[in-house]
Amino acid sequence: MSVQASFDIRDDDRRPPVDDLLGIVQRGLRARPKRLPSWLFYDERGSQLFEDICEQPEYYLTRSEIALMDTHAGDIADVLGPDVRLVEYGSGNAIKTRMLLEHLHAPVSYVPVEISAEPLRNSTQALNERFPGVPVQALHADFTRPLRLPIPPRAPRRTVIYFPGSTIGNFEARDAADLLRKMRGEMGDNGGILIGADLKKDTATIEAAYNDKAGVTSEFTLNMLVRLNREIGSDFDLSSFRHRSHYNVMAGRIETFIVSTRDQKVRVGKQQVGFTAEEAMQVEYSCKYSPEDFAALAGKAGLAVAHEWTDPQGMFAVYYLVRAGARGA
Ligand code: AVJ
Repeated sequence: MSVQASFDIRDDDRRPPVDDLLGIVQRGLRARPKRLPSWLFYDERGSQLFEDICEQPEYYLTRSEIALMDTHAGDIADVLGPDVRLVEYGSGNAIKTRMLLEHLHAPVSYVPVEISAEPLRNSTQALNERFPGVPVQALHADFTRPLRLPIPPRAPRRTVIYFPGSTIGNFEARDAADLLRKMRGEMGDNGGILIGADLKKDTATIEAAYNDKAGVTSEFTLNMLVRLNREIGSDFDLSSFRHRSHYNVMAGRIETFIVSTRDQKVRVGKQQVGFTAEEAMQVEYSCKYSPEDFAALAGKAGLAVAHEWTDPQGMFAVYYLVRAGARGA
């Protein structure tokens, strides 16, 4: 018999209908250069492939962040203090979340915010079984939009938004600052943001992480086309496109493209879209931040770095951000 604990999944009915996928793709293909949003990677297969990426020897990010939590989760929990309401943006980070919850002092509730229903249900259930004493109030919503957080079961001392995994790196500087500013509003005066971000380092190490030898990242990238063929009925020929990721040192980011290997036309809805040989369609940025870069980004959003931690090898960083000018900032 299992302990009956509270867990509930709420739907945010203001979510935009996902059935405008065709429109989103057509718009991206009209842009110059062509570009498609990176969230399109994460259908069921794409989410599985991302998990496989995390196990590749070259992809140091996940291992480093777990090593960081292994070393510092206790200290992080002390900084956050007792009676925290933990709001996680995304819910695909079960291991790190578990490491944090294990150390938190009397957390009030755990609120995963996730746009994909299936991963949300799975992680909610797993967390609930592992931490029967922590009420889970899942929110099925798009975290880039304003959120209506569920009413907590008791008054929290502070709301902490947890955003691990360097997902912030997928947003261009302006959008990243907008997202942090939105979080700043949601966490309230006394709240904070616990956020993971990949550190700048030598080009070879970074590029290897996005070009693993086993080809998993390449498959992950091209799976976006498989998904589109299935969901909007396009006819991308998988054998005529390839993955390319390179580190733009000036911009401090990995830039990933899907490259057409020949002149070709692709049907997308009622349109025929032309690709020239070697034409590169942009599908993902993964921005890398030095601690100084990240403090500057936080500053743009009215936030300050109150604490920072790195893994023993100095590959990855986690920051605790509070309102600029607040005590402890
Ligand atoms: C999940 C956004 C952190 O940018 O490193 C991994 C996604 N893309 N390999 C990243 C990804 C290619 C990943 N994030």
